[in-house]
Amino acid sequence: MSQNAFDKAKELLEEIKNFIISNEEELESFRKKFVGSKNIIKPLFSEIKNIPNEQKREFGQFLNQLKQEAESKFNIEKEKIEDQTSSAKSDDIDLTKPADPIRLGARHPISIVNNRIIEIFEKLGFTVAEDREIEDDWHNFTAMNTPEDHPARDMQDTFYLKDSVERLLRTHTSSVQSRVMTSTKPPIRIIAPGRVYRNETISARSHAQFHQVEGLYIDEGVSFADLKQTLLYFAQEMYGKDTKIRLRPSYFPFTEPSAEMDVYWGLNDEIDYRITKGTGWLEILGCGMVDPNVLENCGIDSEKYTGFAFGMGIERQAMLLHRIDDIRAFFENDIRFLEQFKSVF
Ligand code: PHE
Repeated sequence: MSQNAFDKAKELLEEIKNFIISNEEELESFRKKFVGSKNIIKPLFSEIKNIPNEQKREFGQFLNQLKQEAESKFNIEKEKIEDQTSSAKSDDIDLTKPADPIRLGARHPISIVNNRIIEIFEKLGFTVAEDREIEDDWHNFTAMNTPEDHPARDMQDTFYLKDSVERLLRTHTSSVQSRVMTSTKPPIRIIAPGRVYRNETISARSHAQFHQVEGLYIDEGVSFADLKQTLLYFAQEMYGKDTKIRLRPSYFPFTEPSAEMDVYWGLNDEIDYRITKGTGWLEILGCGMVDPNVLENCGIDSEKYTGFAFGMGIERQAMLLHRIDDIRAFFENDIRFLEQFKSVF
């Protein structure tokens, strides 16, 4: 009997090793026979009492080994079969089905043009300076050589904060000039992009809020020739290598001399006649040499330093580049309008 039990156990080990499991049914019959609660190995443990004492230990160890062998084979084969069935399931995916559309966002056309302007001036060594939209009267006007009762204040109708004559929504990014000049020593070479506000009637051509980029360069020996060359470089980067510019004398309280810059837009079709009023030339910015009064107001020695400044509207450039004929489109956030700029960033 005892020898029988040992032989039986050895046979089982062989059987376990040779058992072929290739599908779920075979796995289940293996489980029932060798691992389940009524498995075939169990009864052999009750044979231990019939084994001669000197063999008990060896037999017991063999049965444990048998049990472990069965369990580990079961676990390994079970995992293999599970893997097979899950990869079979992924084969069911229909790769010819159209994908769910991904809705791509787009940059706002103002951001696109703004970033382009920044990129161009950064190549010339200008760095971006940003400041507040709610300004005080001094930084927006007085420091910029436009004291109270100066007629030039009428050029820029102003939104004042409720019950205040001191605090206002900045009317131009030139306010950043006075902010930077009072807090930094020359050389100064900045561009200041940002939103500005004017109390104007909203129409296709003007809005009460819009965006400007200001430029300021102050150092020893900065001349009008430097200004002209910088603006020519900008215009040709922005509008193409052959772009021509012209400077027309103008007036701003904070620059002397002052000018406005036009780019030659051409007269190729009817729209060109309309936007350039039949001249082919289009005004895109105001500029000039920083007035010595402005330098002194901001604590910069006007005997030692000179500088130039310019300011341009971003909407106007975006309208030109993308042939948009109504400024209000930028602020309506109509998704059909904005989606057209998807490919441009
Ligand atoms: N601040 C002026 C405007 O808003 C533009 C400007 C800036 C002109 C700097 C000259 C120098 O119209």
